[in-house]
Amino acid sequence: MDHSGFWSGRGCSLTALASSRTLRQAGCAPPPPPPYRARPLRRGQDGNAVRGLATDPAGGVVRDDRPHHHVLADQFPGAEPAPAAGRADLGRAEPPAGTDLSSDPQHPAEYRRAGSGAAGPVHRHHHPATRAGQQCRLLLRDVMARDLPSSDLPSSDLLRQVWGFDGFRPGQGEIVEAVAQGRDVLAIMPTGGGKSLCYQLPALMREGVTVVISPLIALMRDQVRALREAGVAAGALTSGNTQDETDAVFASLETRELKLLYMAPERLASGGTVNLLRRAGVTAIAVDEAHCVSQWGHDFRPDYLRIGDLKRALDVPLSAFTATADAETRAEIVTRLFGGAEPVTFLRGFDRPNIRLAFQPKDGPRRQLLAFVDARRGQSGIVYCASRARTETLARALADAGHSAVAYHGGMEADLRREVEGRFQREDGLIVCATVAFGMGIDKPDIRWVLHADLPKSIEAYYQEIGRAGRDGDPAETLTLYGPDDIRLRRMQVDEGLADSARKGADHARLNALLGLAEATGCRRRRLLAYFGDEMAGDCGNCDLCLSPPKLFDGTQAVRMALSAMLRTGERFGAGHLIDILTGNPTDKIRERGHDNLPTFGVGRDHSRPQWQAIFRQMMGLDLCRPDPERHGALFLTETAHPILRGEDSVTLRHDTALRAKGGNVVRTQVAEEDEPLLSALKAKRRALAEAARVPAYVIFPDRTLIQMAQDRPSDLDQMAQVNGVGAKKLESFGLEFLSVIAGDQPRMHPHRRALAGRPEGALFDRLIAAQTRLMRGEDGTGKPLSCSTAQIRRIAEARPADRAALARHLDEARLERFAAVFLREIAEG
Ligand SMILES: Nc1ncnc2c1ncn2[C@@H]1O[C@H](COP(=O)(O)OP(=O)(O)OP(=O)(O)O)[C@@H](O)[C@H]1O
Ligand SMILES: [Mg+2]
Ligand SMILES: [Zn+2]
Repeated sequence: MDHSGFWSGRGCSLTALASSRTLRQAGCAPPPPPPYRARPLRRGQDGNAVRGLATDPAGGVVRDDRPHHHVLADQFPGAEPAPAAGRADLGRAEPPAGTDLSSDPQHPAEYRRAGSGAAGPVHRHHHPATRAGQQCRLLLRDVMARDLPSSDLPSSDLLRQVWGFDGFRPGQGEIVEAVAQGRDVLAIMPTGGGKSLCYQLPALMREGVTVVISPLIALMRDQVRALREAGVAAGALTSGNTQDETDAVFASLETRELKLLYMAPERLASGGTVNLLRRAGVTAIAVDEAHCVSQWGHDFRPDYLRIGDLKRALDVPLSAFTATADAETRAEIVTRLFGGAEPVTFLRGFDRPNIRLAFQPKDGPRRQLLAFVDARRGQSGIVYCASRARTETLARALADAGHSAVAYHGGMEADLRREVEGRFQREDGLIVCATVAFGMGIDKPDIRWVLHADLPKSIEAYYQEIGRAGRDGDPAETLTLYGPDDIRLRRMQVDEGLADSARKGADHARLNALLGLAEATGCRRRRLLAYFGDEMAGDCGNCDLCLSPPKLFDGTQAVRMALSAMLRTGERFGAGHLIDILTGNPTDKIRERGHDNLPTFGVGRDHSRPQWQAIFRQMMGLDLCRPDPERHGALFLTETAHPILRGEDSVTLRHDTALRAKGGNVVRTQVAEEDEPLLSALKAKRRALAEAARVPAYVIFPDRTLIQMAQDRPSDLDQMAQVNGVGAKKLESFGLEFLSVIAGDQPRMHPHRRALAGRPEGALFDRLIAAQTRLMRGEDGTGKPLSCSTAQIRRIAEARPADRAALARHLDEARLERFAAVFLREIAEG
């Protein structure tokens, strides 16, 4: 695998990443970690990029025999234009050396410091010899080729160092490898499965820029922000950019720093874009939300059709990502994005095991909502409602109960909608009561729950909507409330729609699938996944039915009674009247119509009225009967009912469990009680930092990271670096701030030492410092005081020179004399 592009990106200054043996042997002294960026390829004598054999400055030949290396070289000969031409075409003058190239108005300090590290100046700064950076890179390559036994180590190193993640999510590892190798890839992973990482991480492993086509500006901006926060050189060209932002992107393209360039598909309509991308050295295309290329899908974006041409024009590998898996969409993606050539396809199962599934029949829905939300105070959630009016009433009800809740629907002013979207992204624990207009473009990973206050439209819609919860992989909860009115409403919507009858039939079937899920008697997830074609080996253990199995009864008899009452009254009455007949309730209406003379009158006295209501709801759920669109509320039999009436089929039903009794009052907290105050304090710190940086809270750290901090209580930066989600750049940016919340004010750590926090080099640094203090005046304590600078010690700790000659690169003769033996011993000890 070729990591040279990435590693060389910062040349000698990849502090944050070059943790291991990589920079050690290069003998480079890295400055503080800046955004990672690419450096131009070396040029051969013909002016083409050279990636093959390289000469080690020390005289040896560096072998680079990893296959995709050559693939790259073959695929993109001359991918890098002559700088002058590139500039001319980008239409911008070269910025003066050392200019702030990746300035982000929102993080001036971070980026100014980081941005000043354009490859040239940094190398010159640390290495008067101009080829030093290159030496560094060649050595890196040497080291990596020889020392790293496992080829996946580097990508997992990056995962740890840049993202601070401990490991890949299922499927990510293979996809990352395939994309990094420059293969055409189609990856289908569930919502929140972690698709972004599958193109972001390989982009760091590859030479040149990866262009990411993404459908929504909001999504792009969020991702770019998050990447920059992690120290990655990413930018977006969108219509929402300010001129300054656009200038900065062009400048960093031109200087070859940028690793990831986000772009809306619309931009491909302009001919200039392809040229721009070609000249900018784009070496890969990633297509997010690739189902948008499908004309039959729900999110079709005509401009996605241009991506195929872009791939052909640039002749680079393409990776496509989506959560939509049906075979038609998949086939369409292959035709339109890959020109029909089968890409390497990864199909991850659809399960989102961290999402708890639950349904409840409505029984005072507002009370049910409040009970659910009260038990999850302070957690972000979405309440989906079937109507605009309901979003407002429920938001008010929640606000009255002391929750932070707002309404959102398509009828609101665009500005107001944007404001709600922005608040939801930024604020901790905001609840949005919304119609389904709220969703796409909401990339908030820490939504802890989704509650459907009304039945969703179909099983697809249901899964997509609950899928917005728990995208960070942490436990998330869902609850869907439904009742006979919902079923009636949804049936009506299908019947009254404009679709032809075949389409209506299919829509009823989709609704049935959802109702079947609602009235399921066994594991809901099994049923849900089976609908999407995934078989589960066992029950999930994380749905309401697995957690508290329902009481079942043979409902065949009762259902036959009900169906018969329906038939004998000409299928002209609703559930209320039919229940009166079954329970023998002689109302005026019953007597007027002589229904008290029917043989079914009073045959169902064994069941109470609420029980009959539950039976009718389940019958509707099982599609044994449907509301008649012509006659308000009347129920008629469907085909599925006949075998039951004829006694050929049986029905198992559930007793509706007493809802009031349970579930309500258990307050679910994210951590144990004793860690609760600390977690709140950490969240407050996060909020302050997020507000100052004008980024969403989770961009600073996701909940999971704060939870782990609250539980593990790191007491210094080394321990802090072990927390999942704390990458090198974030450790540098925020480590001390959070540490002081946990452990009080910290003795200041020397910046050179801080840069090594959480790494073995840090411990070595400490030992070297101790050793030199011991030897300050020589072995016998009478020598002339002599010490090394912390910068020298850090370089030694990182480079781990193996012998005196190597150590001589860092120390002058006098210091070698004094310290070499002891230092080498410390280094040898690990
Ligand atoms: N290996 C990992 N370890 C921990 N967290 C991860 C890992 N990979 C991704 N995540 C987190 O998971 C969340 C969801 O990732 P991402 O946005 O890429 O999902 P997605 O597959 O693109 O979903 P969607 O279909 O909704 O766009 C993010 O918060 C991301 O940081
Ligand atoms: Mg995504
Ligand atoms: Zn289950």
